[in-house]
Amino acid sequence: MYWRTALVILAFLTLAITEMRVTGQTLDVCATCHPNATCEEKVDGTGKACNCMYGFVGNGRTYCQDKNECQIGANKICGQHTACHNTYGSYYCTCLAGYSPSNNMAIFIPNDGTRCQDINECRVQGICGEGGKCTNMQGYFNCLCQVGYQVHNGAEPFHPHQDKALCKAIDCGQPPSALNAVQLSATGTRYGSVATFGCSEGFFWKSGENSSVCGAESVWKGPSLVCEEVDCGLPPALPHSVMLWDQSTRIGSEVLYQCNSGYYNVGEGNVSVCTANGQWDQTSFLCEEIDCGEPVFISHSKILWDRTSLIGSVVYYQCVEGYYPTSGKCYTECGENGLWEDIELQCEELNCGAPLTLPHTNMLWDNTTVLGSVIEYVCKDGFYQEGGCSLSTCTSSGQWGIVSIICKATCGPAPALVNTEVVLQNTSVVFHRCLEGFHSWRGRNTSVCDITGKWQAATMRCREIKPAISDLVVFNEKCLRWKADKYEEDTENYRIAFVGFRAYQRSFHDKRKKLLSSTSDHPEICLNLLPVTNYTISITALSARFTSTLTTNTSLQVPQAPEILYREIEAPFPTLWLRRSVNTLDPISFYQVFVLPLEGTLVFDCSSPKTPDFSSQRKPHGQYITAQLHLRDIGKEMNLTLGDGHYYGGFYNAPLQNGRDYYVILRAVSQWGGAFKHSCVIWAKVRDISYIMKVSSLFAGGSIGVFALGIFLGHCYTWFCKKTRQSS
Ligand SMILES: *[C@@H]1O[C@H](CO)[C@@H](O)[C@H](O)[C@H]1NC(C)=O
Ligand SMILES: *[C@@H]1O[C@H](CO)[C@@H](O)[C@H](O)[C@H]1NC(C)=O
Ligand SMILES: *[C@@H]1O[C@H](CO)[C@@H](O)[C@H](O)[C@H]1NC(C)=O
Ligand SMILES: *[C@@H]1O[C@H](CO)[C@@H](O)[C@H](O)[C@H]1NC(C)=O
Ligand SMILES: *[C@@H]1O[C@H](CO)[C@@H](O)[C@H](O)[C@H]1NC(C)=O
Ligand SMILES: *[C@@H]1O[C@H](CO)[C@@H](O)[C@H](O)[C@H]1NC(C)=O
Ligand SMILES: *[C@@H]1O[C@H](CO)[C@@H](O)[C@H](O)[C@H]1NC(C)=O
Ligand SMILES: *[C@@H]1O[C@H](CO)[C@@H](O)[C@H](O)[C@H]1NC(C)=O
Ligand SMILES: *[C@@H]1O[C@H](CO)[C@@H](O)[C@H](O)[C@H]1NC(C)=O
Repeated sequence: MYWRTALVILAFLTLAITEMRVTGQTLDVCATCHPNATCEEKVDGTGKACNCMYGFVGNGRTYCQDKNECQIGANKICGQHTACHNTYGSYYCTCLAGYSPSNNMAIFIPNDGTRCQDINECRVQGICGEGGKCTNMQGYFNCLCQVGYQVHNGAEPFHPHQDKALCKAIDCGQPPSALNAVQLSATGTRYGSVATFGCSEGFFWKSGENSSVCGAESVWKGPSLVCEEVDCGLPPALPHSVMLWDQSTRIGSEVLYQCNSGYYNVGEGNVSVCTANGQWDQTSFLCEEIDCGEPVFISHSKILWDRTSLIGSVVYYQCVEGYYPTSGKCYTECGENGLWEDIELQCEELNCGAPLTLPHTNMLWDNTTVLGSVIEYVCKDGFYQEGGCSLSTCTSSGQWGIVSIICKATCGPAPALVNTEVVLQNTSVVFHRCLEGFHSWRGRNTSVCDITGKWQAATMRCREIKPAISDLVVFNEKCLRWKADKYEEDTENYRIAFVGFRAYQRSFHDKRKKLLSSTSDHPEICLNLLPVTNYTISITALSARFTSTLTTNTSLQVPQAPEILYREIEAPFPTLWLRRSVNTLDPISFYQVFVLPLEGTLVFDCSSPKTPDFSSQRKPHGQYITAQLHLRDIGKEMNLTLGDGHYYGGFYNAPLQNGRDYYVILRAVSQWGGAFKHSCVIWAKVRDISYIMKVSSLFAGGSIGVFALGIFLGHCYTWFCKKTRQSS
């Protein structure tokens, strides 16, 4: 802006000069004018003359020199706070630094009214930087540092754009340390911060300032405190005492004072401590000679005393008559503290206190409880004195004498118990006994009259005496059952002894024993009794010592068939084998051997008690017994040869006929009295070879025949068999 304005002015000047030259050429005088002059009519009208142009001085023809307008001084030509700039043929004005022209242009000429005004640079925020303080001056400004800030890289005042100086906050850094002192607090490290100090332990403040302040020079001022080590010096000596002391005069050191022998401390405390202010603290320790003075008086007592009251002196007390001491210790000694020892002894008037109240008694008494007072106890109504002493006296030991009165209630007539009678009686106890024919297992047999006057009745119950064993019966032939008479859950032990006899076997007798424990009211036991035997059985209840006896008999059982070897034989004299099972019924048992010719319909009934007709043996097709063997005569096993022509048990063992087939059946029979029991087995099939061909075509085979037979032999599975069964 400034420079453009200047150029415009120069161009204007050049143009004017060119015009003048053109004008000059047209006139002679004018033609001689200096380029920087103008040709003008003379004022007097005498022609023309060359005059130097504005801003030039000279003769107008040969010489037109630039005129320096600024020569007279900028103040005069441009005004205050200006600079004058001369140009060729002209000049212009500018404001000095720090001022601004009122026309807001860079340059001006004085006669346009422009003035140069001071610029207030301080209006620019932060022109002096952080911590700076701006001061505006005529034409310029400068900066100072605010309180708490310090100039750096220069000096104050400074100009922020020209100098490198700037303001920095004052920071004193960590507060200093002080000898024998500790820092207590600090408000910071900036200018004006305060740190306070206190003396270290064991030191005390002597003088100086306790605080330190961060100053404008960035250094802490102070602290100036002087801490001195505490030293209390020698503790003061106190009269009649010694000091127990470790010679330390430092803070916290203690000195213990002890009174000399015969003296005691009348003050409080015996220790003095070296305190922080370098002084031994005050104690009221004061030693005085020990003298306990007069002993205390205890009422209702006598004093035994030698009238000395120095340490160790003793005074004895004794209660006067009618009074008793309340504590065991009855003397006091003059102690080290100048005092008689505390004595709790008191002499109190003898008093037996409230007397004992006894149940069921009243007291006859004058209400006094002193020595010699007497109380008489009497039984209350409804009670009588059974014995004991009924008087109690207050004794010198302060206690009532022992009363032993026994008051018993009167209960009236004894309680009646069912089936009992009373055997012994006094006013408080009754004995009961069961009536004749009754007994009791448990329960108390006494009724007792209790203190409330009621009978506590006996708990025994009398029951009619019954035999310990009754209703003894046999069931299932081998088992016994009876009714036991005993006390509820009691266990009774029974011994069962039984002896078996047989009329048909003299040598036989079966004698055995068995034991049984039972809580049952209906005990049962099964015995392994042998068949066809008369038994006498006696049962003894061992604790009741009662025996019951009965006789019974056992029945006849189906005899066991012998062991045989079934065979099918083709021989005229077949030998058959059997092994009999040993049993005790041998004397009444035998085997029968039946021969059944196999012809027509074969029917054999094992249960038939009758032996077939002997004569049928001769009939063609008839069944017959060929042998009857008594078991007592047979060994363990035997061989029987059919058709050997001998007699066996009265039966003829006839030879078998040729050309016929037979079944041989063996029947075991037991028989006693009217009873008849049997079992059958097929022993053999005897075949004639010539006949086999015929039979096998007639019957579906021998095996079917055998099967059919098996049905008859007592193993009854079909209806066919039922009839035969009924008959047995
Ligand atoms: C006339 O004045 C101008 C400036 O205005 C200058 O440049 C020029 O040289 C002057 N002419 C002579 C002959 O002095
Ligand atoms: C410094 O501290 C001590 C103890 O804390 C106090 O007795 C003393 O008067 C203090 N001195 C000053 C100058 O405050
Ligand atoms: C000092 O006083 C205490 C209590 O007051 C006491 O127990 C101690 O025996 C005294 N010591 C001496 C040496 O008297
Ligand atoms: C004893 O004291 C009781 C009640 O405290 C009173 O009823 C009675 O009359 C007194 N007996 C005598 C003999 O003073
Ligand atoms: C009554 O009899 C019981 C038992 O024999 C006995 O202990 C008690 O002393 C008797 N009482 C009296 C008052 O005879
Ligand atoms: C009462 O029972 C006890 C055992 O319980 C017995 O010794 C006493 O003889 C019985 N007295 C009478 C009178 O039955
Ligand atoms: C059992 O005793 C009765 C009578 O004495 C007698 O007839 C019977 O034969 C006996 N029975 C036996 C197996 O002894
Ligand atoms: C067995 O006893 C019953 C009844 O007790 C009797 O009827 C029977 O005849 C007795 N039999 C024998 C063989 O004694
Ligand atoms: C029965 O016969 C067999 C074979 O022939 C023989 O071993 C056995 O000893 C005989 N038994 C008796 C009791 O004769």
